[in-house]
Amino acid sequence: MNTAHANKQKDIFVKVPLEKVQAFWNARPCNIRHSQQPIGTKQYFEEVEQRKFFVEPHLVEFANFPSVKGKRILEIGCGMGTTSVNFARAGAKQVTAVDLSEKSLSLAKQRAEVYGLTNIEFYHANAEELSTVVPLQEYDLIFSFGVIHHTTHPEKVLTQLQRYLAPQGQLKLMVYYRYSWKALWILFKYGKCQFWKLSELVAKYSEAETGCPITYTYDKKEVDHLLNNHGFTPVTMQVEHIFPYHIPDYVQYRYVKVWYFRWMPKKLFRLLEKIMGWHLCITAKKAQCSN
Ligand SMILES: C[S@@+](CC[C@H](N)C(=O)[O-])C[C@H]1O[C@@H](n2cnc3c(N)ncnc32)[C@H](O)[C@@H]1O
Repeated sequence: MNTAHANKQKDIFVKVPLEKVQAFWNARPCNIRHSQQPIGTKQYFEEVEQRKFFVEPHLVEFANFPSVKGKRILEIGCGMGTTSVNFARAGAKQVTAVDLSEKSLSLAKQRAEVYGLTNIEFYHANAEELSTVVPLQEYDLIFSFGVIHHTTHPEKVLTQLQRYLAPQGQLKLMVYYRYSWKALWILFKYGKCQFWKLSELVAKYSEAETGCPITYTYDKKEVDHLLNNHGFTPVTMQVEHIFPYHIPDYVQYRYVKVWYFRWMPKKLFRLLEKIMGWHLCITAKKAQCSN
């Protein structure tokens, strides 16, 4: 575990007020430009989903939508609701979707209405203080994809989530992986290899919109410690996802790979994703009490 880096990013990001995080995601909700259709229409939401699942296919596997039938699900940081809506459609008994960004939530609500889904409830809340807004109850699955690394105190979120997970429930989390192709690419492309500025550089360039105020990155040992210290036992951890597309084409809705990925054999690319992917996907369970 790179303790020096972990401490440094903590020093930088604990000083960032959550209002900045909220303002960032309100200004540009995650994936809002995944479609050119009029925002809020069924066609718009369908295209957003298509593009998200096309670019992040591992998300579909990780969420395992068919497995949620009849379950109670708490989603933290639902954004525009792509996964929440899919949990609801897959027959979840109850989906509770939470986000800090009112703009993202209002789109997620609109989306649920467009599909006539009645098994989703939305809450505007800071996950670090979840219990002040979301009634305490046990959930079978707590899902959070690409969220807790954007908040000031990720550990506070975990303390909260521990209270909501049923004894036999599952926590599925995705956080960004430090030793990834993406972090390396940011370091070379924008950072002139100034590795001591990695935390700031990664935050600035981690998202579609430049200037994300907080983006922690983790290695597997750090995640293991973090979860064990907050009442969870990790079951699996898997690194996934390298974005292979040429960005100027991608923003024009064309999927052209950058030259080195175009020529790389598929098997080699998959291997690279498994070693240097950007998404560290974790499944954990509630730690058992010793008494
Ligand atoms: C990268 S987006 C991911 C959205 C969604 N999970 C997805 O995969 O499309 C991060 C989301 O986390 C939310 N978020 C960040 N900090 C949060 C907090 N403390 N409490 C609740 N939501 C938070 C943001 O508002 C944003 O919608």
